[in-house]
Amino acid sequence: MKNIKTMTMEWTGNSLILIDQRYLPLEEKYVECRNYLDVANSIKDMVVRGAPAIGASAAFGFVLGAKEFSHLSDKNLFLNKLEEVKNSLSKTRPTAVNLFWALNRMDKLLKESLQNKETNDIVGILEEEALKIAYEDIEINKQIGKNGESLLNDGDTVLTHCNAGALATVDYGTALGVIRAAVENGKNIQVFADETRPYLQGARLTVWELIKSGIKTTLITDNMAGWVMKQGKINAVIVGADRIARNGDVANKIGTYSVAVLAKRHGIPFYVAAPLSTIDIETKNGEGIPIEERNHNEVRFCHKTRLVPEDVNVYNPAFDVTPNELVTAIITEKKVLRPPYEKNIVEVATL
Ligand code: MRU
Repeated sequence: MKNIKTMTMEWTGNSLILIDQRYLPLEEKYVECRNYLDVANSIKDMVVRGAPAIGASAAFGFVLGAKEFSHLSDKNLFLNKLEEVKNSLSKTRPTAVNLFWALNRMDKLLKESLQNKETNDIVGILEEEALKIAYEDIEINKQIGKNGESLLNDGDTVLTHCNAGALATVDYGTALGVIRAAVENGKNIQVFADETRPYLQGARLTVWELIKSGIKTTLITDNMAGWVMKQGKINAVIVGADRIARNGDVANKIGTYSVAVLAKRHGIPFYVAAPLSTIDIETKNGEGIPIEERNHNEVRFCHKTRLVPEDVNVYNPAFDVTPNELVTAIITEKKVLRPPYEKNIVEVATL
């Protein structure tokens, strides 16, 4: 296995080609990352986004860095350069823990391998590991789907927020993976997708990929979620996660918290679908999760059109934290976790 090609990313052996998610669904453009800085910029600028996709891309970025410096036969010089590579990649987005998880996995293997291998041989070893991360991600998502699909009944309508689909992962998706698995199992499932202001991952990406997959989808603006729940149109909410603290608090796209509060008010189960790599056992609770604040123009502009007075003050946190008491269950590749979260998370993380 030397390559991988999915809708989200392709590893060619010398570069990482990413579908440019900034332009979807209006244009299908691609960005070819030929070095680690290209990958870092693509993560920062959200050419690629979604926690597992960010993690896998960073792993390939690490490989590109190793390739760039593999002419350095001095192991210490090589290590120093790869420390710079790791730093550049880790400074891109702070919230999704999969980024740090993937980089630490690569870095650990690098250090182990350097004990008995030359820098030249290391590139191949790291490349294999990055491919492993990518292939594993697809399998993990399918397993999350299998574990979660029994939570849905034939005829259910699911509300989702942001995009936790194939585009947010290497393929298949986490939250959308559960929906895909239920549909593959013969269930008739419909989706309501929040548009997900300000970046519109729901309107642009979730809707695009669900329609492509033939899953009946209805787009609503974020402020309609409460009313559609009140009207009895929603049977379950399923979202992804960027980081889950040890106590089960969940950081996900801004607006997820509001949806969870609304789901509680209406007695609707609120599920989080995420791989174990999204669980940050070191972080005690949601208060310890760094929340990225993004450029204010993401709120001022819709695509290239400014909709508001130029100098208006803006607050643009990209994520929020849903407290564990609002989470009905966390669907992982190992099992479906339910409260008490801290005990069950620690147990599954050490399996
Ligand atoms: O800012 P984004 O688009 O990277 O945020 C993505 C999300 O919040 C997703 O729900 C999360 O990363 C899970 S993706 C399987």
